[in-house]
Amino acid sequence: MNGVTGRMGYHQHLVRSLLAIRAQGGLDLGDGRVLWPEPVLVGRRADALRAIAERHGLAHWSTDLNAVLAARGEDAVDVYFDAQATAARPDSLRRAIAAGKHVYTEKPTARGLADALELARLAEAAGVRHGVVQDKLFLPGLLKLKRLIDGGFFGEILSVRGEFGYWVFEGDWQDAQRPSWNYRAEDGGGITMDMFPHWEYVLHELFGRVTSVFAHTATHVPRRWDERGKPYPATADDAVYALFRLANGTVAQINSSWAVRVMRDELVEFQVDGVHGSAVAGLRRCRAQHRSATPRPVWNPDLPAAEAFRDQWQEVPDNGDFENGFKAQWELFLRHVALGGPYRWDLLAGARGVQLAELGLRSAARGRRFDVPELAL
Ligand SMILES: NC(=O)c1ccc[n+]([C@@H]2O[C@H](COP(=O)([O-])OP(=O)(O)OC[C@H]3O[C@@H](n4cnc5c(N)ncnc54)[C@H](O)[C@@H]3O)[C@@H](O)[C@H]2O)c1
Repeated sequence: MNGVTGRMGYHQHLVRSLLAIRAQGGLDLGDGRVLWPEPVLVGRRADALRAIAERHGLAHWSTDLNAVLAARGEDAVDVYFDAQATAARPDSLRRAIAAGKHVYTEKPTARGLADALELARLAEAAGVRHGVVQDKLFLPGLLKLKRLIDGGFFGEILSVRGEFGYWVFEGDWQDAQRPSWNYRAEDGGGITMDMFPHWEYVLHELFGRVTSVFAHTATHVPRRWDERGKPYPATADDAVYALFRLANGTVAQINSSWAVRVMRDELVEFQVDGVHGSAVAGLRRCRAQHRSATPRPVWNPDLPAAEAFRDQWQEVPDNGDFENGFKAQWELFLRHVALGGPYRWDLLAGARGVQLAELGLRSAARGRRFDVPELAL
């Protein structure tokens, strides 16, 4: 596990996923065997790795990725996982694939489509199993939205509106709640590269493949303060306003911003409008309104709003227990490694996310809409 000292690597992948799988007694493979993950923590800072290992009673850590990948016998690892800052990722993934390891990685898999596709091709050629984190698909809110789609609730789906974002502090008078590399293009930062990989798989899996993109980016906050309190120029986009067309004609419009204040119930919300009904899904909640229960507002600016529109939606019930999304996907990937079988959230799927981000940035730079060609290995 490379990058476990980071936000995602530590909280979501180590603690909430692999340690949670150990706490439940391992992963039941369903054939009488139980898979027991034994993490080897990898990173650049020995002190930080040792502290995490001691805190969680883990035996293995190293600052030497090559040595970990080259280990044989008892010490050999089966899977390489990457949650490093994006710029460091492709090189490490290449090394792991060359060493014959199965690979599982955070998104974006690379900073450009050429690199992302090359990684997918290398993994296929090496015959290793590969997966890319697509955690949003496993969120309760989106699982409930998927249930509505699968149950035919919407009829024809017309449009999807996504609103993602929150205020990320500049770092001077209050600490920034995201790492500073996110705001430097040269270090792999930028909200388009960060969020479009998510929007690609969310739209693709729920509504249809993205066939064109038009995006407008901005760097609304041009100066920020880093982890050491030093000011730096923000060179990456901190907001992107985008319009996507999907294969079936549905229109999707998603705003993503680290320079917006939240007047929503959740940090991301998607409103889906269909002929027969509409729904608003967030990370955890999903609310729906059927056409039979749709109010009939009449435009009259001379009168105060006569209805409490928010109260007219119905909560979609959980009807089950939802796991942490990262853990749910780790379990599917580990099962895939152990048992084989199809697994579609792979490096080619990851490359589609990078492709959409790259085309979104190109669209913003040129001021025009771009088609999104279908990728193949
Ligand atoms: N799936 C999601 O929802 C989600 C959310 C946030 C971030 N991410 C992705 O996870 C990755 C990590 O993001 P984060 O917010 O945890 O960042 P972070 O800065 O908190 O952690 C990055 C990790 O990489 C290491 N690192 C940083 N620069 C490095 C370099 N040049 N070489 C080697 N290692 C380096 C750090 O030591 C740390 O362990 C990013 O690729 C990001 O796109 C995914």
